[in-house]
Amino acid sequence: MMKVVVENDYDGVSKKVAGILIQEIKSNPNIILGLATGSTTKGMYLELINSYKTEGVDFSGVRTFNLDEYIGLNGDHPQSYRSFMDEYLFNHINIDKNNTLVPSGIAEDIDRVCREYDKKIEDAGGIDLQILGVGENGHIAFNEPGDHLNINTSVVKLTDSTIRVNSRFFNSIDEMPRTAITMGIGSILKARKLILLATGKKKRPVIKQLLENPVASTYFPVSMLLCHPDLTIIVDRDAYVD
Ligand code: GLP
Repeated sequence: MMKVVVENDYDGVSKKVAGILIQEIKSNPNIILGLATGSTTKGMYLELINSYKTEGVDFSGVRTFNLDEYIGLNGDHPQSYRSFMDEYLFNHINIDKNNTLVPSGIAEDIDRVCREYDKKIEDAGGIDLQILGVGENGHIAFNEPGDHLNINTSVVKLTDSTIRVNSRFFNSIDEMPRTAITMGIGSILKARKLILLATGKKKRPVIKQLLENPVASTYFPVSMLLCHPDLTIIVDRDAYVD
């Protein structure tokens, strides 16, 4: 079943999704969460940190798997997704860092890292709840539009559009990695519950296409999420047209 929730603004979306996460953590302290990076999720992470500091929400038993990472960036590179997660969430809550997994972008045998990442998710019992953002081109994690989508965790080439959009975080476009490691569409669809977040006017065309034209296409990766039996889409007014 698909559910669409429309909140007034970015703050409303952050509070809504953090509220759902907190409830889920309270009812299952050993929950396995799938997490996403990006500006959309920052507010939600801030809410989670607040809930830890003010209400004492306990993250000690929580395990997390992140969706993706840039190839070539060490975990301590400021633009790596590992540092994003540490900076915006993990450093500020009582989670065991050993239980926070982000695929490595610097391993020598990257194919092995890919295989092992899916295996680790499976061995943990699968992801209970996966949080997702969406790219302006409809990408999910780093599954880019094209004539095929990877089912399993894989290395992918980033599209020119993603390189342009994400290079805003780097000193120059030349520093922006051209490849990434990402959970595949199959890895993502195996999660028991999916929550897709979209905020701001730039995401409006994506949400419009997704809701008005429910067709699964590899050229619009986010559309694959429509195949999932438990998908909630949480958007703000800017990203949504009636
Ligand atoms: C990035 C990430 C995605 C993220 C998306 C949206 O490139 N690989 O996992 O969901 O693009 O990012 P933002 O929230 O900054 O718009």
